[in-house]
Amino acid sequence: MRPANPHAMVPPTAAKNPRGSWSTVFSLMPYLWPKNEPALRLRLILASVAMLLAKIATVYVPILYSHAVDRLAHRPADALIIVPAAIIVAYAGVRIAAAGFGELRDAIFAAVQMRASRDVARQTFEHLHGLSMRFHLDRQTGGLSNIILRGTLGIQTVLRLATFNVVPTIIELLLTVGILWHLFNVYYALITFAAVGCYMTFTFAFTAWRSKFRRIMNETDNEAQTKAIDSLINFETVKYFGNEAHESKRFDESLARYEKASVKSQVSLNTLNIGQATIISIALGIMMLMAANGVAHHSMSVGKFVLVNTYLMQLYIPLNMLGFVYFSLNQGLVDMEQMFALMRVDHEITDRPGAKILPAQGAPAEIRFENVHFSYNPDREILKGVSFTVPAGHKIAVVGPTGSGKSTISRMLFRFYDVTQGAVLINGTDIRDLTQHSLRSAIGVVPQDTVLFNDSIYYNIAYGKPGATNVEIENAARLAQIHDFITRLPQGYKTKVGERGLKLSGGEKQRVAIARTILKNPRILILDEATSALDTATEQEIGAALSSVAHDRTTLVIAHRLSTITDADEILVLRDGEIVERGSHLALLSLDGVYAAMWAAQAELDEVAEVVGVDPLQLQNSVSEPAN
Ligand SMILES: Nc1ncnc2c1ncn2[C@@H]1O[C@H](COP(=O)(O)OP(=O)(O)O)[C@@H](O)[C@H]1O
Ligand SMILES: [Mg+2]
Repeated sequence: MRPANPHAMVPPTAAKNPRGSWSTVFSLMPYLWPKNEPALRLRLILASVAMLLAKIATVYVPILYSHAVDRLAHRPADALIIVPAAIIVAYAGVRIAAAGFGELRDAIFAAVQMRASRDVARQTFEHLHGLSMRFHLDRQTGGLSNIILRGTLGIQTVLRLATFNVVPTIIELLLTVGILWHLFNVYYALITFAAVGCYMTFTFAFTAWRSKFRRIMNETDNEAQTKAIDSLINFETVKYFGNEAHESKRFDESLARYEKASVKSQVSLNTLNIGQATIISIALGIMMLMAANGVAHHSMSVGKFVLVNTYLMQLYIPLNMLGFVYFSLNQGLVDMEQMFALMRVDHEITDRPGAKILPAQGAPAEIRFENVHFSYNPDREILKGVSFTVPAGHKIAVVGPTGSGKSTISRMLFRFYDVTQGAVLINGTDIRDLTQHSLRSAIGVVPQDTVLFNDSIYYNIAYGKPGATNVEIENAARLAQIHDFITRLPQGYKTKVGERGLKLSGGEKQRVAIARTILKNPRILILDEATSALDTATEQEIGAALSSVAHDRTTLVIAHRLSTITDADEILVLRDGEIVERGSHLALLSLDGVYAAMWAAQAELDEVAEVVGVDPLQLQNSVSEPAN
């Protein structure tokens, strides 16, 4: 069950050039005929009836027209205008019926169509949330949301066109050919058939060829969007480096490719239209010559001559659409295929059958890392055999230089990735044998870089516990030392934090993150440099709060400032993915190794800071790179 090498499961990024295939249409069937939705099924039936009636009315229109012409041409002896007038009235009535049933069909069908695209969009969204961190880090969000947007539009198009344009056109063609055969002779039917055959072959072949321009347009459009979004998100960085021109050039490169493909697409469309008009006009000319010949030899009435023309002109309308329909269908299928390709990306991390549930609340749990090896990419191992145990209710600290793998340890425990070798156990159970949902419900993480939702502070804190009361939220904010700050804001808890929380300072964001984790009230707590962006005074205040939250909870602290973890039950010193020292603060100091050296370096900074009167953190950050 457990794959030997998790890299074998790296999801293929959704096929680069997915082709819209007709099999994709069939994947829509369940949405057209939805289970447990008799109302929607009834709609499909009614819409089909309306479609049929519309087509019968449509082919009846030219017949009435030719009758009227004949009546008028013969100048009946009784000179009564009543008969042709009645025919004309009927003609108008049938035209109204044809249009009316057509619109009715669309109106009835709209509900089915919209429900299908909503269902598929939601399922894709849910699927995306189930995909691994690896997938999301590799993908760009702008591109993803574009794919969903276009995919849902594609579904609507495909449903509308496939069911209510292609099928009705075929019906109309058959009816027309049948009537021509019946009223005239088999040659008219054959010519019509041949003309339509040529027309379709030409249209399909040509459209298939030109759809590649559309595909390029899609790709470059995606690319342009992704670049634009990424560039705008990095607004600050762009300004720091004065790289506006560079960004604009990058964006314009995609736009230029889009421009080129669009022009080709347009020109090829015009060529297609010319070809189509030529085919139909030639057929029309031949048939009218035949009819004119008939009229000249009195074997055919003028009305019949008109009828031939009207039928072909009328058939030309849906046929003309057919080129567009085929093109849009192809396009819709390509868009859908891209979305379905996303749906087919396997979840890298899955619940195994019979996975157990770790209760979210309860007695403190024990965490054990057993010889954990891990690499993000096969060519570089990040954790090289890490083993440690956090006894239930204890606090373990992990320290070490930036890049040594500290955050990776917390990602292993949270199961963002599976270990390459070894195991992570909670209360003796391998976390791969637990459901992801229950595992993650039991763990609270205050991450190193907090990203907030573009909503109010209130919303962002409440995120820790959906349905939390105002009192609970304010209490959590108080414990995280941010309540006073919030109440001083003009809009208080309703203050919007901006995209990704950028309107708050690093320290404020961290305190929001701490507040929402306090609200979540988890059994296991991971603090990943949770207070690194705070000044010493605030850090000490929150430190007290965090200690009280951590009390009686199994806690893993990844520390930036060593003075905050002197009380840990055990300190692990990590370097290059290996634990090089471990023990209590005092034991490690007396060991006089890596830890003692780090401690001395920080103490020195603290002393300097005191003399100069600045925040030691600022000093430290100016000496060593801020931890990452
Ligand atoms: N998603 C990723 N893909 C590839 N390499 C990664 C990824 N995340 C982190 N790394 C690398 O793994 C190493 C350890 O990262 P991390 O655990 O975040 O270090 P830290 O100890 O600073 O928290 C770093 O060298 C980092 O570049
Ligand atoms: Mg880190």
